[in-house]
Amino acid sequence: MEGQEVSSKDEGHKMLPVDGPGWSYVNGVLHCDGMSLEDLRMSLKKDYGLQGSPAHIYSYSALVANVKKYTDALCPLGERGVLSYSLKANNNLRVLEALRQAGVNMATTVSGNEILMAMKAGFAATNIIYNGTGKRRWEVELAIKHGVLLNLDSEFDARLIAGVAREMGLRARCIVRLNPALNADTHPYLATALADSKFGVEFHQLERVLQVVRTGESGDVEHVIVEGVHIHVGSAVSRTQVFSDMTRVAARALREIRERGWPRASTINLGGGLNIRLSGVPGKNDERPATPEQLVGAILPLLPEGSTLLLEPGRSLVATAGSCAFTGVLMTEVLGVKTNGKRRFLVVDAAMTEVIRPALYGAHHPVTHVTIPACQEWAVMDVVGPVCESGDFLARRCMLSLSLSSGAALVVWATGAYCSSMASNYNLRPHAIEVIVKAPDLYTVVRRPENFEDLISCYL
Ligand code: LLP
Repeated sequence: MEGQEVSSKDEGHKMLPVDGPGWSYVNGVLHCDGMSLEDLRMSLKKDYGLQGSPAHIYSYSALVANVKKYTDALCPLGERGVLSYSLKANNNLRVLEALRQAGVNMATTVSGNEILMAMKAGFAATNIIYNGTGKRRWEVELAIKHGVLLNLDSEFDARLIAGVAREMGLRARCIVRLNPALNADTHPYLATALADSKFGVEFHQLERVLQVVRTGESGDVEHVIVEGVHIHVGSAVSRTQVFSDMTRVAARALREIRERGWPRASTINLGGGLNIRLSGVPGKNDERPATPEQLVGAILPLLPEGSTLLLEPGRSLVATAGSCAFTGVLMTEVLGVKTNGKRRFLVVDAAMTEVIRPALYGAHHPVTHVTIPACQEWAVMDVVGPVCESGDFLARRCMLSLSLSSGAALVVWATGAYCSSMASNYNLRPHAIEVIVKAPDLYTVVRRPENFEDLISCYL
């Protein structure tokens, strides 16, 4: 099914692709948390001119609702159920602050700069996790200095972390990332725990890694504390069975860690990965992904006595998941309409630079009108951007109104995750403006649009 064109014939004119808090059509106009997107568009134009579009729009209420789905699901575990947000999905500082204030306990990072960003957003350093297959020395030093929890991804990673901790005369808090060789049944680029994936260590290597950090090079025990185990099988995972399988492997690894010198090890980090309703994974769109409640329900009975469950979702907090709500959309303006061969193209001001997922994974993000047109004639069109690449499309085969012309607005759905954070400046395009809407008359610009000066500021 990969690479297949997904037909969304029933989407463009269906108004909302999925019901949920935050978004509704009122008198034919899309509203976010009660605010008309047409009004918002006018307001952004007034303040930012042409740089006001395209715009990433985040619904505050949807964000809070998504956090609550997870915290409610983890509630039976009390303090032993911990929600950590994976920054890579969306690293906007104000989005991070909002997530923390809404009840996210920890932040999961994959670089030194993400660690610094999480701290800037108010997460205590000891509530930050640092994952990585190729950690740099400065990043390890930063993590150890501040008491960040590091994952041990390989023997060489373990050696680096133990060595740096010893040199610093400090203790590194660690969890071991396992590769359980489980098929997560997702897009090949999003699977991280297949037998030949680059992440983590195989079960048979666990003993060796523990030995490296236990003895270090000089035989001292004190510089690494192994607190538990980490597994993340991939992203856009729909079935709870995968999470049950992971829990069994993690429980076995935790037992081994306890027996091999860390009797108080208790953390079971089962990563993120929960799929969303409109995952954009070709062939999987008809599958109803598990909700956070179903996810935790599948894990709970298998958790070993005295363990702490840590989940580190990204997408399902800032895009949408199962019964969760859409957090973010990208609002874009039509530049023109053209036809070539049998194809009708709607050229908009957003591009693969803002939403790379269709080009990279064959992902499908529904596109709908901001204002439902009076003209009820529809046609199948490709929504494409101005970038000089044939792979520059936001959605193909969309059923949209024939009345669309220059200046009309559209929204691309489920762009809260892995869109702004994966944006590029290709074609010297500036990073788009980002806005959080909180109430019918309240929005905050949480990232100003880049300008030409920003783009050239690093050239010497
Ligand atoms: N934990 C670990 C160790 C991860 O590697 C990831 C994502 C997560 C948690 C969060 O996963 P989530 O809940 O967001 O699925 N760029 C791709 C997704 C890459 C995910 C990488 N790792 C996309 O646009 O679909």
